Amino acid sequence: MPIEGIELMNFYDDTTSINKGYFTLKKRIPPELARLGLEGSDQIVASAQRGDAPSVRVYRDYPHVFGGLNIFGVEHLMHQSIKSEKFNELFRSLDIEKMVLNVTGWKGAFCTLCRIHTATPFWKYQGTWHRDALVNTDDSIHLNIYLKDEKGFRIVPADRQPLLKERQINETALGNSDNLLLSEDLYDEISAKAGDILFFKSWLLHQGAYCGQRRHIHMCFKRVDNNSQEEVIRVCNINYRKDCDPTNSKVYSKISISTSYNENSSANSPLKVRNLLTQLKPALKRGLRLINYFIPFLRIIRERHLINQSSSKYTRYSFLSNTIWQ
Ligand SMILES: [Fe+2]
Repeated sequence: MPIEGIELMNFYDDTTSINKGYFTLKKRIPPELARLGLEGSDQIVASAQRGDAPSVRVYRDYPHVFGGLNIFGVEHLMHQSIKSEKFNELFRSLDIEKMVLNVTGWKGAFCTLCRIHTATPFWKYQGTWHRDALVNTDDSIHLNIYLKDEKGFRIVPADRQPLLKERQINETALGNSDNLLLSEDLYDEISAKAGDILFFKSWLLHQGAYCGQRRHIHMCFKRVDNNSQEEVIRVCNINYRKDCDPTNSKVYSKISISTSYNENSSANSPLKVRNLLTQLKPALKRGLRLINYFIPFLRIIRERHLINQSSSKYTRYSFLSNTIWQ
């Protein structure tokens, strides 16, 4: 059931959007459909937390409490091991590719990224400032389709981009640590409601910093020109680049989860010790990470060079980022 009757804004119809390089379509998804999508995404995230997803991202592998892995992103969302009919219904109804073409005015586009972003309020998180395309290249666009109210996505608008150079912001340093803060007058922080859709040019400098709930579908579309050689596959009204096929069974980046210790297979002693050590190492790492989450002294020692190096009027090292105190 495609959503009718909502006039989509084009980037080039609105001066503010051109200047900022991003805009939010408010209440773009009807509440009942957003709820259906949220329920579907809950099912997918729950499968991923159990370790069933073919491709997941884990910010920091903390001890597996609160139901499993500390999942930050899930990809290949229509793979048979995690797929959800409710979630697919959201995709079919939204007709996202058509929406992207309306917004950008492009003749064609294909999807190169489709991921659910999630977080739990307990594991606070701040990512690195980064761009997903070269500055001023306008052939790709990102969108966040919000399924919950959330706050924490930060973006440097296009019209503030020149200030980064003027203030001699070291972007390489910014990209090397997720504990660096940028002066607040340089960026906007998006406050979104479930059902909103944010569009932003992929080249804009951005960062995710979350202390509360987070659930959105994060996508990237690239413009297709006439002689594009890109191989695509069509699923739920969207052309995906082959390696982003959401149904694909190929395992891309499944994180290694320690397998349970098998007593039967370890009758011989050296093997038993080796198995135990294999299990112990990641568990120890998770334990250290947990200690640092409350008292980040090891991290501060490791990153001490950044404390002076990156400190300026416009950037500074944050002792509290990525801790319970964030
Ligand atoms: Fe990004």
